[in-house]
Amino acid sequence: MWRVKSLDAILATAQKKSLHRSLGPIQLTLLGIGGVIGTGIFVLTAEAAQKAGPGMMLSFIIAGAVSAVAALCYAELASMVPVSGSAYTYSYAVLGELVAWLVGWALILEYAVAASAVSVGWSGYAVGALANLPHPIIIPPELAVGPYAGGLFNLPAVLVALAVTGLLVIGTRESATANAVLVAIKLAALAAFMWLTLPVLRMENFHPFLPNGWGTMGVIGAASSIFFAYVGFDAVSTAAEETKKPQRNLPIALIASLAICTIIYLLVAAGAIGAYGAQPVYGPQGQVLSPGSRELADACTALAGQALACSREGLAHVLQSINHPLVGNVLRWVAGIALPTVILMMIFGQTRIFFVMSRDGLLPEALSRVHPRFRTPHVVTWITGVAVAIAAAFLPVGQLADISNSGTLFAFAVVSLAVLVLRRTQPDRARPFRTPLIWLFAPLSVMGCVILFFFLPWQAKLLFPIWTAIGLVFYFSYGYRHSHVGRGKTEVPELDAPS
Ligand code: ALA
Repeated sequence: MWRVKSLDAILATAQKKSLHRSLGPIQLTLLGIGGVIGTGIFVLTAEAAQKAGPGMMLSFIIAGAVSAVAALCYAELASMVPVSGSAYTYSYAVLGELVAWLVGWALILEYAVAASAVSVGWSGYAVGALANLPHPIIIPPELAVGPYAGGLFNLPAVLVALAVTGLLVIGTRESATANAVLVAIKLAALAAFMWLTLPVLRMENFHPFLPNGWGTMGVIGAASSIFFAYVGFDAVSTAAEETKKPQRNLPIALIASLAICTIIYLLVAAGAIGAYGAQPVYGPQGQVLSPGSRELADACTALAGQALACSREGLAHVLQSINHPLVGNVLRWVAGIALPTVILMMIFGQTRIFFVMSRDGLLPEALSRVHPRFRTPHVVTWITGVAVAIAAAFLPVGQLADISNSGTLFAFAVVSLAVLVLRRTQPDRARPFRTPLIWLFAPLSVMGCVILFFFLPWQAKLLFPIWTAIGLVFYFSYGYRHSHVGRGKTEVPELDAPS
């Protein structure tokens, strides 16, 4: 189980189908921004406010800093092993099959559960957009939220997840042009938000700045959750193979996209706090209430939803409350159009990971069966899509984001460790991109990921070991015996790659 798949074997597979190097720093940065900006800023700002109040600005900085060091480590491996499968493939080459399996297993949390979280986030804005039409369409509350807030299940979230899955099955891929247009729309909407909120900041809204302190229900806890807002930059590293001069352009794009997103997030957060207020909502006895809990839903009902922490469409709610209902509505439609592409990227990423794992024999090959007409891995795409829809039907967005973060933080910590191990064991191997100050940044990244993990709510922390244990049972009952590397098939079979 410690067997590694040699880097040369991985690269040989990759070279057979090498891609055209067409992306420059600007397209690459746009790719990063496109993957990153989504539910995190549009929806989870409300959750961050419930934990940290105005101190969420510090949470955005902390989560951004951890993402930046992790991104630099990611970039070195991505440039050395520029193949599909991201962290899973890197770990297979460096830390062995068992660790690779665990990372692949954790990436299911990252990608699939993130897709569920974004579907639920989308639902909040879509329900608001329909309710604010000239002829309003009201989705009954029972069908607009899950049982956590008194509903039955989240119908819009289920529908969007299944619709995106259908698109992926018939072969829709995000194109660079569509991505650039959507990034422009998202940025324009957020710019409008800043334009309208920042001039009407009231300093008293920033006091108290740290209502709940620094703990799990304070600034660092909010950083652990808001980390979700930065997930997706791996899209940049995984495009290493298609990048012109990756040594120069990858780090530029990674740092630029994260820096731009951090600045946008800080300004949007400042606008929401300053123009509207972002103090947490407390229970009847003044107790701190968890985001997504029934108690918070009840307290919000008592407040008639008049708090950022109560809103499922926080940014639109702020604009509506400061007398800009029209722009608020436009923002709802922008979220409605732009968030599904984040879902698309996440489900696509997930199917690619499954595809590579089954190509390695760790999952049944039937999973990577390719559709005869559409040339897409339809079996695994539908399995993923249905699972995403079920989770989105019943769970709150914040809890899904936290669960997703637990997997992502684990994967990033392992990748950061793998970079260090590889510097020691294979110092002479070509590194198109070398992480600067690696002996500082990689340990910082591991430490940051571990700290953020421990500040996640207990449900997400508990679910992770249970998920890992299930993964181990799967590995030892299937993957261990079927692994191609284990059976001496080092040359990976050329399965029909999905288009
Ligand atoms: N960063 C992405 C989002 O916030 C996953 O939706």
